[in-house]
Amino acid sequence: MIKEELQKYAEEHSSPESEVLFRLNRETHLKTVHPRMLSGHLQGKFLEMISCMIRPKQILEIGTFTGYSAICLSKGLTLDGCIHTIEKNPELQHIAMNAFQKAGIENQINYYSGDAMDLIPKINENFNLVFIDADKENYLNYYHLVFDKLNPGAFILADNALWSGKVIEEASPADKDTVGLLDFNDFVQQDARVENLLLPFRDGIMMVRKL
Ligand SMILES: C[S@@+](CC[C@H](N)C(=O)[O-])C[C@H]1O[C@@H](n2cnc3c(N)ncnc32)[C@H](O)[C@@H]1O
Repeated sequence: MIKEELQKYAEEHSSPESEVLFRLNRETHLKTVHPRMLSGHLQGKFLEMISCMIRPKQILEIGTFTGYSAICLSKGLTLDGCIHTIEKNPELQHIAMNAFQKAGIENQINYYSGDAMDLIPKINENFNLVFIDADKENYLNYYHLVFDKLNPGAFILADNALWSGKVIEEASPADKDTVGLLDFNDFVQQDARVENLLLPFRDGIMMVRKL
């Protein structure tokens, strides 16, 4: 959402991508149909910073894709910590697992292949940090599914909360992604159990803290 030159300037004044992330970024662009889904340099650093501030023991990620954000989030894990990450597209698994191995975090990852709507109820853990980054129409369902698994003070980060600006345009009822995001943003905004910030960074990140 910012000018390309400013984006470049911000990237040049942020710690660089690690070699593993740089290569994964490239590999994702070479081998996948929608490489733009990957968090990328600045958002990856943002996730890393947030995770390092929280120092979570258990992280849940919904939407692994090729593993970029999971590697970033892993940087803040406690030594005995673990990321549970869910991806429904089985064709992406080998790229992500390979990247986790190269990043040396394969022992801190629980990878679940399948639909997050089915899998989340089966994960019997409590989380300090949840990253929602899968199908937009289910964001509110994910919120409800994870809420009771959040420790008090835990955070949810939900990507694409501004959805390229579509959240302030007239949404067609057939556009389930936009409708899903509108429902999610509105629900969080009136939920007295949380504090929230819709951060206008990249495609918008809804930050939620359970009170
Ligand atoms: C935006 S990408 C995730 C990007 C990744 N978090 C990153 O930053 O590098 C969204 C991913 O969610 C997956 N996905 C979509 N619907 C899903 C569902 N119901 N359950 C699990 N994964 C899903 C897609 O296959 C896709 O790989």
